[in-house]
Amino acid sequence: MSHKILIATGGGDCPGLNAVIRGIVKRAALENDEWQVYGCIEAFNGILKDNVEIVELTESMVSGLHVKGGTIIKTTNKGGPFHFPVRLPDGSWKMEDRSQLMKKRFENMGFDAIINIGGDGSQRISLDLLNIGIPVVGVPKTIDNDLSSTDFTFGFQTAVQIATEAIDKLVTTAESHNRVFIMEVMGRDAGWIALHTAIAGGADVCIIPEIPYRPEAIAKKIETRYKNGMGFCNIVIAEGAKRVGGDVVGKAPTAIGDQHIKLGGVGDVLKQELLDLGIEHDIRVTVLGHLQRGGTPVAYDRILATEFGVKAFELVKEKKYGNLVVYRHPDISYVPLEEAVKEPHLVKPDDFLVRTARGVGMAFGDE
Ligand code: F6P
Repeated sequence: MSHKILIATGGGDCPGLNAVIRGIVKRAALENDEWQVYGCIEAFNGILKDNVEIVELTESMVSGLHVKGGTIIKTTNKGGPFHFPVRLPDGSWKMEDRSQLMKKRFENMGFDAIINIGGDGSQRISLDLLNIGIPVVGVPKTIDNDLSSTDFTFGFQTAVQIATEAIDKLVTTAESHNRVFIMEVMGRDAGWIALHTAIAGGADVCIIPEIPYRPEAIAKKIETRYKNGMGFCNIVIAEGAKRVGGDVVGKAPTAIGDQHIKLGGVGDVLKQELLDLGIEHDIRVTVLGHLQRGGTPVAYDRILATEFGVKAFELVKEKKYGNLVVYRHPDISYVPLEEAVKEPHLVKPDDFLVRTARGVGMAFGDE
């Protein structure tokens, strides 16, 4: 008997998504034509839209795909089966619950299960789908590394590598001009990308959401460096950082179906705070933005993503639905989706990585 799997990639894209898809398709191909794998185009929109967009993924289509960034089956971080944006004749939008329609189509098309590759938001959708009777296996994806049940998500190491290469470049120009450079990186509410990048790049200051900062403390660190003849200062700041007693910096979402505040701009806010405190050195701000999510995955992410793909297929084959594939050193294993989405994985101020950073003289703006 032939079996069918539907794969979706949801949320912000991330290097390694294609490697997961390739892992699933190649693993399924070892089963003597018993399994067919399909891609749902643009997260679940492909099965929710009036004109269904679902494509069969063959082995030849995924050949060499582990190297390619992005996702060949597209993604979106807006809407979903439970709040699908529908345009009304008067031009306004309403959110429609299309989950039952999705279930009907899923069953009519003869699918056995869905493999949903996505971050925390997508895995909450996985759980909701499971609760209406759709068999789902989740695969954790995000450059932010903020999912608590896995040691790492794929995409994270690539983002850190990109950010580290960027800070290496900023250091030489900061040094030449005796400047203060503030580099803003992604990560939402988690400081993982900032912290790893700051250590790998030898930053002088690292500002993360989990440790609210005082501009005065940062100004003091800058002046100390200049007084000691260092002549420049490199600061890595996470987009979700906030000052003590303050709030995150960003814009309310404007796109239909988007529910998240768009973080961004805290680097500029910090620059102004430093100027207000009388810092007279030249300050420049660089926002890395989506560069951190683009391009080819580093080897680590290709490997992790491939492991996740193979494991996800095996969970479906064994009918172990309702689970998220995870990496818990040294194994690739799985946890119930319910447990996986309970709480985010954030930096703890006493993590050894924070101690390491402080141990090499890095400031966090808190003392
Ligand atoms: O979650 C991944 C991420 O890149 C975050 O680090 C960032 O805040 C957000 O997505 C950006 O989303 P968008 O692509 O919608 O601008």
